[in-house]
Amino acid sequence: MKIYPPIDEMRAASRAAKLGGLRLGFVPTMGALHAGHLSLVRAAKAQCDVVAASIFVNPLQFGPNEDFAKYPRTFERDRDLLEKEGVDFLFVPSAEEMYPAGSVTYVSVEGLSKRLCGRSRPAHFRGVTTVVAKLFHIVEPDMAFFGQKDAAQVAIIRRMVRDLSFPVEIIVCPIVREPDGLAMSSRNAYLNQQERKSALGLYRSLTEVKRCFDQGEGRAAKLIEAGMRVLKEETGLRLDYLEIVDPETLEPVTEINRVVLLAVAAFAGPTRLIDNLLLGA
Ligand code: PAJ
Repeated sequence: MKIYPPIDEMRAASRAAKLGGLRLGFVPTMGALHAGHLSLVRAAKAQCDVVAASIFVNPLQFGPNEDFAKYPRTFERDRDLLEKEGVDFLFVPSAEEMYPAGSVTYVSVEGLSKRLCGRSRPAHFRGVTTVVAKLFHIVEPDMAFFGQKDAAQVAIIRRMVRDLSFPVEIIVCPIVREPDGLAMSSRNAYLNQQERKSALGLYRSLTEVKRCFDQGEGRAAKLIEAGMRVLKEETGLRLDYLEIVDPETLEPVTEINRVVLLAVAAFAGPTRLIDNLLLGA
């Protein structure tokens, strides 16, 4: 596994691989890797000839009172895991390389970026799309792999790729969960024992909504009520949102007559967690 920067050398390695006719897959991450991240790497290995990954804790996507400073940084372990998975190129830029002094250019997907997590994290998705656009320009992948775990991120990146004609195919991989159902997340490392227990309320609320849906309830308001009942029982959680939306536009849906996205975000102690599932899929 070859590790970059410099940015130019990363791009040169990608171009050389592609000139040789090889299909290049890319897995962007912020590190603190877990089985969810590795599932993306495996999907990339299965579908591509050469795989690049990146580790960059992107300051632009954290709000002023969020966890940028304490976000887990476990580079040596991450590097060894990626090496073992057979990643070919690892891109690990510094903030100075990604955002040279005086950077004032952003990529913003209007509208969608203010929905779901974008409501309580106003600059978050602009930070995500700006860094992903930059990473795509540097790595120039044929295919890029993202997790369904961040369903709004997927919708927003797909829209950016379409609107700006990026020559990249976006592949979305299923959510990897702990045996008890908790969606894997680098932020799970913050949870104490009590918070870890409370965190299960997210998945419990989603599965309760799915149960009601499977029994024939198609009205979004009724389904949300059922999910809210479960969330209220879990006193260790502070809800941000529980919503049923169109998976592409992220706009609220009232009646479920096609595939919809059921998404939840809540705080367990100071830690903000998200989860989702598709209904009608
Ligand atoms: P990060 O949170 O490190 O996640 C990197 C990728 O792993 C994302 O595509 C995310 O959806 C996926 N992922 C995380 N947990 C997962 C799980 N339990 N199952 C399946 N996939 C999972 O998302 C980001 O970083 C950043 O916003 C990034 C795209 C790298 C831009 O900075």
